[in-house]
Amino acid sequence: MFPNTRLRRLRYNNLLRDMVQETQLSSKDLIMPLFVHYGTKVKNPIPSMPGIFQYSIDLLIEECSRLYSIGVHAVLLFGIPEQKDETGKCACADDGIVQQAIIALKKHVPGLFVIADVCNCEYTTHGHCGTIVQGDVHNDITCKTLAQQSVSLARAGVDMIAPSDMMDGRIGIIRAELDAHGFESLPIMAYSAKYASAFYGPFRDAAQSTPQFGDRKTYQMNPANSREALREVELDIQEGADIVMVKPALSYLDIIQKIKHSCNTPVAAYNVSGEYAMVKAAAQQGWIDEERIVLEILTSIKRAGADIIISYHTQDIISTLAQ
Ligand code: PBG
Repeated sequence: MFPNTRLRRLRYNNLLRDMVQETQLSSKDLIMPLFVHYGTKVKNPIPSMPGIFQYSIDLLIEECSRLYSIGVHAVLLFGIPEQKDETGKCACADDGIVQQAIIALKKHVPGLFVIADVCNCEYTTHGHCGTIVQGDVHNDITCKTLAQQSVSLARAGVDMIAPSDMMDGRIGIIRAELDAHGFESLPIMAYSAKYASAFYGPFRDAAQSTPQFGDRKTYQMNPANSREALREVELDIQEGADIVMVKPALSYLDIIQKIKHSCNTPVAAYNVSGEYAMVKAAAQQGWIDEERIVLEILTSIKRAGADIIISYHTQDIISTLAQ
């Protein structure tokens, strides 16, 4: 108690402050999401996400070489195919947009760790995350398509897959299908607690995946629930998830913390497009110090319990972090 105890003693010297710092953010914690567009020489800016572009594969290779050279070691790919269809079949094609991107990246930037999103929303004409039967996404049919998509990504040489669809049972079905095709060593990072969130708005422009009718509330979680997130995580782990994810991150730090305490797998958090857009918009107005805000945000996500953070800020912040 005061005056014996003075917590300020450890705050006067910056070296000492660093020594007693509890949470360290490292470049190794971060994953950069990227959007792969069909065609060549494409670099389309996304207006609501300043600094983020859709790249065709030729330019994606250049961008990934640049990212790798500044210390970004892992990327998460989303695809924008030329043709979409009713059931997202084009997501399962061995010459699909993301499959081709993986093959190219493995050849030209071999050190890069390449993760691929597994979901149908970028590939369906209606923008929903699976096959529509009677006006809603059919769970079990969709799981089969997701498993096919996963196998074809595995064939292309992906390093890890990240299913983001929120169908029940999909991790188990994907795991079984991967194993049946000899990909038993391919890890799965499951979007386990993915909420039906307004923070995905800018992403849907970037991935051209806005649902053409309805919303995603019959498959993504209600933002008001937290115990349910633990059930999602528990099931995904039982089904074979290697890493579990919480998404979005900032309004869900309590969920990250709960999950960290309730399970022993690594925990990832997705600092999503809307969170990024808000920071960029305020920074462009000169209302905030972008670098300090980003460091504080990412540190808070890690402090809450995330081992891995997926963030569009990765490219801007990586050079200021410990390697
Ligand atoms: C769906 C998917 C979404 C995001 C990642 N995967 C959007 C959605 O569910 O509508 C959002 C990512 C972001 O907002 O940055 N496959």
